[in-house]
Amino acid sequence: MIQSPALQVVDLCKNFGALRVTQEVSFHLPVGHRRALIGPNGAGKTSLIHQITGVLRPSSGTVSLEGTNIVRHSIQQRVRQGLVRTFQINSLFPDLTVIDNVRLAALAARGLHRSFGLTVDHRSLIAVEIERLLSTLGLVELGTVKVSHLAYGKRRLVEIALALALKPKVLLLDEPAAGLSRQEISVLVRVLRALPKHIAVLIVEHDMELVFEYAESISVLVQGRLLRTGTVDEVRSDREVRDVYLGRRHV
Ligand SMILES: Nc1ncnc2c1ncn2[C@@H]1O[C@H](COP(=O)(O)OP(=O)(O)OP(=O)(O)O)[C@@H](O)[C@H]1O
Ligand SMILES: [Mg+2]
Repeated sequence: MIQSPALQVVDLCKNFGALRVTQEVSFHLPVGHRRALIGPNGAGKTSLIHQITGVLRPSSGTVSLEGTNIVRHSIQQRVRQGLVRTFQINSLFPDLTVIDNVRLAALAARGLHRSFGLTVDHRSLIAVEIERLLSTLGLVELGTVKVSHLAYGKRRLVEIALALALKPKVLLLDEPAAGLSRQEISVLVRVLRALPKHIAVLIVEHDMELVFEYAESISVLVQGRLLRTGTVDEVRSDREVRDVYLGRRHV
């Protein structure tokens, strides 16, 4: 039996008035595949992510998760089905500790809102899971620190911890390296590399060092259209891609 792609987008279009922000975009991500989405500012990358996650309703086209068209599903339904994007910083609870933030996501992944009433076994299972996540992200020592006291780079790692606690099948990251130091970016790359193999990743990023190091393939979006999809080497050496994007970035 042929396995359905983890994520499939077919003929997606989105218009804001006369602005065609997404134009007949089609691509698929096999299970466990790591794809970068690159392109100039204003190309429509974030708008595309918003349509995949359900923040924006496309004008036409379909988004399928494991073969099921989810275009009419709510954001929450999509998350429950395994389509998760990293949280925005302002969606973290600043007055709660790192552990408590991650716990809320781990509970949400089980359709729960609080640990009250859970069995001891269930609680310790969740505690082990949180411990593992914090360890993967190098956040163990910061577990009891309030999020509001964390430096920016650490908060971004907490966002990823929350996303992972939701047990994604497809993880969408929109510029996770923005505002991070080189050292924090290398932690981020290590974390992304250590993700469970079955998770498909779509990462929007302007940091080409990260993209070339991490991605298995790259799609290039220009003015709402996919210009190219290929391996890192193919896209990197493509003359048109260099002309419209890479060549302007001194890489
Ligand atoms: N809600 C909206 N209403 C109207 N136009 C919008 C809306 N959201 C985005 N746009 C426009 O859509 C275009 C694509 O924006 P988008 O943010 O998706 O680009 P991007 O590729 O993510 O850019 P960047 O690399 O700067 O993050 C831009 O021209 C933007 O002004
Ligand atoms: Mg964007």
